[in-house]
Amino acid sequence: MEKYSQFRDRGSGIAPFFPISSTPAGIYLPVHIFLFLFKLPFFVTVATTYFLFLQWFPLGSLFKKAILWMILGIPGIWWIDLQIDGVKKGSLAKKHEGRIPQPSSIIASSFTSPIDSLYLAAIFDPIFTVSYPHTRQVRRISLLGAILRALSSPQDQPPKSAKLTDLKTLLVENPQRVVVVFPECTTTNGKGILPFSPSLLTTPAQTKIFPISLRYSPPDITTPVPRHYWSFIWNLLSQPTHCIKVRIAEVVYNTSKPTDHATEKKDRYLTNFLDTLGEDSAMTSSTDTLTSLSDQPAEVNPEEKRILDKVGEALARLGRVKRVGLTVKDKAAFVEAWSKKRR
Ligand SMILES: *[C@@H]1O[C@H](CO)[C@@H](O)[C@H](O)[C@H]1NC(C)=O
Repeated sequence: MEKYSQFRDRGSGIAPFFPISSTPAGIYLPVHIFLFLFKLPFFVTVATTYFLFLQWFPLGSLFKKAILWMILGIPGIWWIDLQIDGVKKGSLAKKHEGRIPQPSSIIASSFTSPIDSLYLAAIFDPIFTVSYPHTRQVRRISLLGAILRALSSPQDQPPKSAKLTDLKTLLVENPQRVVVVFPECTTTNGKGILPFSPSLLTTPAQTKIFPISLRYSPPDITTPVPRHYWSFIWNLLSQPTHCIKVRIAEVVYNTSKPTDHATEKKDRYLTNFLDTLGEDSAMTSSTDTLTSLSDQPAEVNPEEKRILDKVGEALARLGRVKRVGLTVKDKAAFVEAWSKKRR
């Protein structure tokens, strides 16, 4: 592990890119092999039928969601533990009003597994987007694209040929849809929240941004290392069940609330002070220190940064983890080092 110490967050020691290995099956190995072989044909049949054929037909959102639930159900993902900020567990659905994403809102989701997109699609039938660290523009992708994105290499820049847009435009063009953003840009193992892309800043001021954290138990179906298709499918299908912990935070708007003068002054002082140190101001209250402000795109002003920080803090709080300073670039370096070791 020690040779990978550069891929730990310097302040908190969190290593967000290491794959999480499963608990050894031990004597249950034959059961796991049986489960895998039993579920695989169903899983492959339903998934390919959907993604090759059914998704192209105008079958209605409800029908499509039903099939997506089947794709989730076959591996045993049916324990959904949902908690919404400000709503007591098990309270009436009426109380949820305004606290769950509706058409024309944005979901800022944690990004750890292909299941993230599948689950969000089964609930919200949203539009998926890819964000990049240094641009406010996003690339629209399909559900399958979003699922595969969780298993592909980190991208620091959009591909040259990519057609880019921004969240404002997407919302105007699709007033009946929810738009999903993965502001961390690349997957982690769920142990830390990476610095955000500025893409959320193109959200119109009246649009609701819902930070949503998805955690898995057991956590071995997260895919921080790209292209580990087989271990993902094995971990997914060989276990009897998986649980998703879904946490929805209170809405964040892309505006800054007027703060009272004193705190603002203090904030500004701290921001300047920490900026000169080359560190992030977000973590002033906790012990961890972000390591690489230089990777934050320079075009984000303090006001905008505060909004990104607010969403980032919400995701960290919901996931019971910390924000880290490691970036998409660090992950790319990690993946390279990791695959060398394997060779
Ligand atoms: C979002 O908020 C930031 C900070 O207040 C502002 O700079 C940006 O223009 C806003 N974006 C939109 C689309 O209103």
